[in-house]
Amino acid sequence: MSWVGSNNLTEFQKFCIKVLKCGPVPNHIAIIMDGNRRYAKKTNVQKAVGHSKGFEKLAECLHWCRELGIKEVTVYAFSIENFKRSPDEVDALMELAKEKFRKIFEEKDKLMQEGVCIRVIGNLSLLPEDLRKLIAEAALLTENNTKSILNVAFSYTSREEMTYSLKTILQGIKDGLIDNGDVSEELISSCLYTQLSRNPEILIRTSGESRLSDFLLWQISDTDIYFTDVLWPEFSIWHLLGFVFKYQRQYNTKSHDVLSPQVLDHKIQTFVEQVKIQRRKQLEIYSML
Ligand code: FPP
Ligand code: MG
Repeated sequence: MSWVGSNNLTEFQKFCIKVLKCGPVPNHIAIIMDGNRRYAKKTNVQKAVGHSKGFEKLAECLHWCRELGIKEVTVYAFSIENFKRSPDEVDALMELAKEKFRKIFEEKDKLMQEGVCIRVIGNLSLLPEDLRKLIAEAALLTENNTKSILNVAFSYTSREEMTYSLKTILQGIKDGLIDNGDVSEELISSCLYTQLSRNPEILIRTSGESRLSDFLLWQISDTDIYFTDVLWPEFSIWHLLGFVFKYQRQYNTKSHDVLSPQVLDHKIQTFVEQVKIQRRKQLEIYSML
C-alpha cells in the first residue's frame, strides 16, 4: 500500500468535499489512530495484520486530507509506552515501519510530484539502527516538499518531548548562547520536536477511548478534540468530513485573531536556528550509519 493513497472517491464524496471547502478548513489535524488490535480480534486476524490495515487507513486518510486542503497531518504511530507491549508485537510494528519507510524510496517520484514531506517526531535514539537510518533518509529526501506535510510520531510521548526541549534550553544556557531570563513559552515551543509546525486545529481519537495518552499535550491547548467509537482501520471519509463540518459549525464561536508570530530576540532566534541545524545534522549522521 502506497503512502500517497489512491484516488477512488465517488462523485458524491467529491461533491461533499467541494461544499466543505467553501468554509474554513483546518490547516493541521492530529490523529490518535487507536483500535488496530480490537479490529484484528473482531476480524479474526493477527495483531500485525490489524496494524497493517491501520497503515492502509492512514494512506487513505492522507489522500482525503489532501483533497480537502488540509496541509498538515500529525499521527501517533508509536508511543514510547508501546515498548512495554510483547516483544512479538513491538517487532511486528518495527518491521511494518521499516517496510513502509523503505517504500518511500520506491515511490519517490510520486511523493515528489505530490509535494509530500514526511517528518518523524520523537526520540529516534530508542529505535533500531536500521529503522532510524531509513527514517532519517526519508526525512532528508522529502524535507523540501511543502504541499503536504505528514508528521509521524514514532517513539514519542509528550512528556519526553517537553523534557527534551528543556534539556536543549539548559544546554543553550550552559553554552552561554541564551540566559535564564530568555526562557519563555515561545522558546519551549521552538525547541519541541514539532518546532517546524503550527499547532493542530483538530485532534481526532478513534476507538472510543477518551484519553490523550501523552500526545501533543503542549500543542493542543486551543485545539478542538473529537472522540469517535470507530476503530481506526474502519475510519471512513464520512467520519473525517463530519469532524470538519463540526469544526466549521463552531468556527465562529471561537476567536481566530491572527496573532503575529512572537518576534524572538535576535540572540534567541539565533539559538533556535542553531537547534534546527543541529537536529538536521543529527539526521544526516543517522542516514550515513
Ligand atoms: C493503536 O492501536 C495503534 C498503534 C499502537 C500503532 C499505529 C500504527 C499504525 C497505524 C501504522 C503506522 C505505521 C507507520 C509506518 C506510519 P492499538 O494497538 O492500541 O489497538 P487497540 O487499542 O485495539 O488495542
Ligand atoms: Mg489502543
